Amino acid sequence: MKIDVVLGLQYGDEGKGKVCHSLLKDEDYTHVLRFNGGGNAGHTIYHNGKKLVTHLVPSGVFYGKRSIIGPGCVVNIRKFLSELEYLKSEGVNTEGLVFIARNAHVVTEDHIVEDGRDTKIGTTKSGNGPAYRDKYVRTGLRAENFKELEPYLVDIYREFYSKPSSEHVILAEGAQAIGLDVDWGDYPYVTSSHCGIGSVLLNGFNHKDIRNVFGVIKAYDTYVGAKKFQGDDPVFEKIQEAGSEFGSTTGRKRQVNWLDWDLVTKSIKMNGVNRLVVNKTDILQTVGEWKIKSRGELLSFENDKEFCAYIRGESERMWIGCKFSYNPYEI
Ligand code: IMP
Ligand code: MG
Repeated sequence: MKIDVVLGLQYGDEGKGKVCHSLLKDEDYTHVLRFNGGGNAGHTIYHNGKKLVTHLVPSGVFYGKRSIIGPGCVVNIRKFLSELEYLKSEGVNTEGLVFIARNAHVVTEDHIVEDGRDTKIGTTKSGNGPAYRDKYVRTGLRAENFKELEPYLVDIYREFYSKPSSEHVILAEGAQAIGLDVDWGDYPYVTSSHCGIGSVLLNGFNHKDIRNVFGVIKAYDTYVGAKKFQGDDPVFEKIQEAGSEFGSTTGRKRQVNWLDWDLVTKSIKMNGVNRLVVNKTDILQTVGEWKIKSRGELLSFENDKEFCAYIRGESERMWIGCKFSYNPYEI
């Protein structure tokens, strides 16, 4: 078995969905598996010239691949079924392609109501926190407990280990990012799942089967939630506008700041990232300022060439490959 992993290295919204979509075009994957999170995620992709936003269904459906919502995820049944309807109405075939691990947990309507009362964290109000809590206090319900999910259920062990495992090439699609990881993010301003490489393995995979770990960042930081994140420089408003930085699940304005290279470095080292993808460098081109926070300093660059050269140099020092992409996305 071979597994390629796509991880966010900032605070979500780096463009993981687009990277997955692009990898699926070129690589011969048999499966796509979402390994963490739930309906709190929002993956915006451009497929056949159309802008589509998914929250739960893995990006494999766009290329006819088996698409599994893994046991590390939590699923609201109503939102899952309506996403299938949405994709169908947009002309995307999902028939016989979308599955949910039997042991994934379910987000109930009560979880959503409870999460709706949050004012402290600024959650997406998708019910994720309460659903993961109930999983860990052992009062939760799994997908296999719901009759309406029967046609979609899959047993991960049977799926991946009953045939010779060499037949499988899996794209493990992450949601959220290291800066939102429940252990490694800025607690309590985090999500309720693990967003790093360890989380992939918890879905039933063997660490020896990991082939590539793609770390995705964009040229500046954004964050959505209750803590103050945006700096005082008016340039951040300009970046927010130029980059259309609005949450794809909640529509909230994303707060903006300069790229925190120390967080990127930490995320790369702790997760074994071997390929870095840098999205949206053209947005800084639009505002005409290029800065990076690194090792306690705010570095300024004259143009995008210098900006990219810094990131490339740092990546080479860590022995990892690096690619830059612009908007609209191309890799
Ligand atoms: P929750 O995951 O809905 O509980 O939200 C916890 C924090 O994570 C909040 O700051 C959310 O805005 C943020 N968050 C959750 N999912 C995403 C995402 O997919 N992109 C960006 N931020 C997210
Ligand atoms: Mg998103």
